[in-house]
Amino acid sequence: MTFKLVPLEHAEPGLIRRLAEIDATLPSEYAVGYEASADSIAERIVRLTESIGNDNAFVMTARNGRNEVVGLHWVCLVEGNEACAYVNTTWVDPSCRKQGIGSALKDAGENWARQRGATQMATSVALTNDAMVEFNRRRGFTPTSIDMLKKL
Ligand SMILES: CC(C)(COP(=O)(O)OP(=O)(O)OC[C@H]1O[C@@H](n2cnc3c(N)ncnc32)[C@H](O)[C@@H]1OP(=O)(O)O)[C@@H](O)C(=O)NCCC(=O)NCCS
Repeated sequence: MTFKLVPLEHAEPGLIRRLAEIDATLPSEYAVGYEASADSIAERIVRLTESIGNDNAFVMTARNGRNEVVGLHWVCLVEGNEACAYVNTTWVDPSCRKQGIGSALKDAGENWARQRGATQMATSVALTNDAMVEFNRRRGFTPTSIDMLKKL
């Protein structure tokens, strides 16, 4: 499949809502019982809109031949520690995976972070998200901490 990378540069409400829905729905792929709420989508619409023209944020989409969004990568410089970039989101449409889109998005995000002076990139991944854990390991990420949870 051919794809192209297109940055989020304009406040197009339809596109921003689509990206917000993707981002808010993402945890449901690996967190059983999770559902995106209207509030979580609205919160992302605000943050995505604020990212436009913001030098500390990078929002890149991947598009298919019909210009539909098939990938999203969202990276920010950490406030107060701009030497570190934090990956909020990496997502590829399930029907388009294993074709190099995720790698192209991550390459673009890492290049952006380097150009902004970042020397580290951090991210957080659910332990059950095997694809993302393996994807990140292959790209040179190593685990630094484990979140622990106990049901009461
Ligand atoms: C992880 C993800 C982004 C990978 O995207 P992708 O476009 O399929 O990635 P690529 O085609 O560039 O794959 C690059 C490498 O990642 C690894 N990889 C990708 N998917 C994998 C999987 N399911 N299992 C193991 N390794 C995988 C492989 O090493 C692969 O290289 P290879 O094809 O030479 O074996 C995609 O699976 C995804 O969107 N997952 C859901 C999103 C998500 O969970 N995000 C985390 C919350 S923020």
